[in-house]
Amino acid sequence: MSAVHLEPAPVAQPADPDKLNAFLGRMVGDLGAIASGALVLLGDRLGLFRAMRSGEPMTPDTLAQRTGTHERYVREWLSAQAAAGYVDYDDAAGTFRLNPEQAAVFADDDSPAAMAGAFEVLSALWLDEPKVAEAFRHGRGLGWHEHSPCLFRGTERFFRPGYNANLVSAWLPALDGMVDKLQRGATVADVGCGHGASTLVMARAFANSQFVGFDYHAPSVEAATRAAREAGLANVRFEVAHAKNFPGRFDLVAFFDCLHDMGDPVGAASHVREALKPDGTWMIVEPFAGDTLAGNLNPVGRVYYAASTMVCTPCSLSQEVGLALGAQAGEQRLREVVTESGFSRCRRAAETPFNIVLEVRS
Ligand SMILES: C[S@@+](CC[C@H](N)C(=O)[O-])C[C@H]1O[C@@H](n2cnc3c(N)ncnc32)[C@H](O)[C@@H]1O
Repeated sequence: MSAVHLEPAPVAQPADPDKLNAFLGRMVGDLGAIASGALVLLGDRLGLFRAMRSGEPMTPDTLAQRTGTHERYVREWLSAQAAAGYVDYDDAAGTFRLNPEQAAVFADDDSPAAMAGAFEVLSALWLDEPKVAEAFRHGRGLGWHEHSPCLFRGTERFFRPGYNANLVSAWLPALDGMVDKLQRGATVADVGCGHGASTLVMARAFANSQFVGFDYHAPSVEAATRAAREAGLANVRFEVAHAKNFPGRFDLVAFFDCLHDMGDPVGAASHVREALKPDGTWMIVEPFAGDTLAGNLNPVGRVYYAASTMVCTPCSLSQEVGLALGAQAGEQRLREVVTESGFSRCRRAAETPFNIVLEVRS
């Protein structure tokens, strides 16, 4: 092993006291948010949020009794939630309640605003940080499959509300002629399907069509297969396959939030061209991003760049080619990938604060 040459640490610059105080004030807020993350996971795991879903004011004792937990722990947890603004506190009555907005975010996985899954995703960033630190040193990647299982489950829980809210009502109708095709009966591939949230939403809505979800991660394919069975859907199945060699011919190929995770997105795009029927459509759903770093320095970009550093970029670097687009590649860069593979038409069909939807055709 060759010797590593470390530069001597530079001398610290003098800090402006006012700016330092302002920055420290911001850090207190950030530390509170980070610490609250673990408590949200606790509340989710123990059913504390769900027990408060109706909005009924509760003492710590009532909540503890209803969730089979101990009052002293619950009282401290509720105090922390009140300090975070995640539950409301009535000082006179000594009770806590979830208001409707807090309930929509923390207590209802089917709400379009559900966020508890995001906290599971973020816990994987902490759990897997030592592995990512190693990857920074050796420069090789860290595959999706090498992460903690909370990433896989959390991704499904975090993304599903968005698919429930947008996929059938807005994204598919934004693709030229697609809803007609799906209603008549079409073949659809959902590539990089994870736990199959998007696949199941489409299969439920279009009973005449046949859906197959592909993912290279076998445990995710097993979870998706179980979910399809539990949903009683006969028009959907899941298979282990890579984006560059999944089998079949399709009217629609969909990639939900996974193109940028792939090592060879151009190779995957070339395979999609071969897998599409002559009039077929490729739908790409990617994280919302501007085309420049400066344009992405905002709260959404903050979340995405963090996930991209810890998960998406290492995942791409772990695969053949290792293009490492990153989760904030931007539409222009995505278009380059699409055209490099030989597709001639690409347009932005829809967008939400978190996603852009591209319609790609030959
Ligand atoms: C961010 S997750 C998105 C999962 C799912 N599409 C969703 O929206 O819930 C990315 C997925 O891409 C899959 N993936 C990454 N590289 C892949 C490849 N080369 N071929 C197939 N799947 C891949 C991962 O296993 C993971 O399930």
